[in-house]
Amino acid sequence: MDNRPIGIFDSGLGGLTCIGPIAKALPGERILYFGDTARTPYGSKSRETVCEFALQIADFLVKNDVKMLAIACNTISATALPLLQESYPEIPVVGIIEPAASEVARRCTKANSIGIIGTKVTVKTRAYERAIHSIDPGLRVYQSACPAFVPLIEEGIIESDIMDSLIRYYLDDFVAYHRLDTLVLGCTHYPLIKENISRIYPQLTIINPSDCQAGAVEKALRENDLLADATAKESTFFASDLSENFIHMVDRIITENEYNIAIRKF
Ligand code: DGL
Repeated sequence: MDNRPIGIFDSGLGGLTCIGPIAKALPGERILYFGDTARTPYGSKSRETVCEFALQIADFLVKNDVKMLAIACNTISATALPLLQESYPEIPVVGIIEPAASEVARRCTKANSIGIIGTKVTVKTRAYERAIHSIDPGLRVYQSACPAFVPLIEEGIIESDIMDSLIRYYLDDFVAYHRLDTLVLGCTHYPLIKENISRIYPQLTIINPSDCQAGAVEKALRENDLLADATAKESTFFASDLSENFIHMVDRIITENEYNIAIRKF
């Protein structure tokens, strides 16, 4: 039993899409979230910068006594997961790519044509391709970077023609050329435009990694005897710059438990 919070973090508000499934699977757990809204997006920065920022956030969360770290960011998972695991050997550190790759391998066969979309950094590392092929080397996987999605989503420009045009700009050729039937949303911001994508490409089965991480978090807590005993439930959401959109998103996601929102600058 351990009633310390779970530390969850992302470059911005995208990681909030992982909170709903985690809160649903583990309703007794407190969450300490950090979104680096002042420095987002990470996906077009260098690997070194992403690692440096990730370590700063993880340090902040660990100093605030989290019992584990869940990286709610594909870009950080693709670049800094081993570094974070080495830096904090005393607590479990869970990424988002491996749980999502297991789900892809569970649901797909050689007959599928699987597209992965993500940030430039995530695509460049080929982390998804490697994780999926380590489970099933026969799966057909194609990748494409969509770097302009995150800034628009952080601005809350979602239900709009601008977003729909951008989706077509990035995905029309990608979907048609590879005859995709499955699309993996390899950035935690993208579930926020899942409905736009489904409306434009109704033939695609969409796999949302934000739904897949909760199982890995639960497993890590259980195996390390760290589950809470369902008492204290107040969660805290830190951002490095408090945008209206961040506050609105937290409000939308956390409907049952108590929570605080605070600023923490680096
Ligand atoms: N939400 C993040 C991800 O899953 C990063 C987006 C960004 O900062 O570029 O990759």
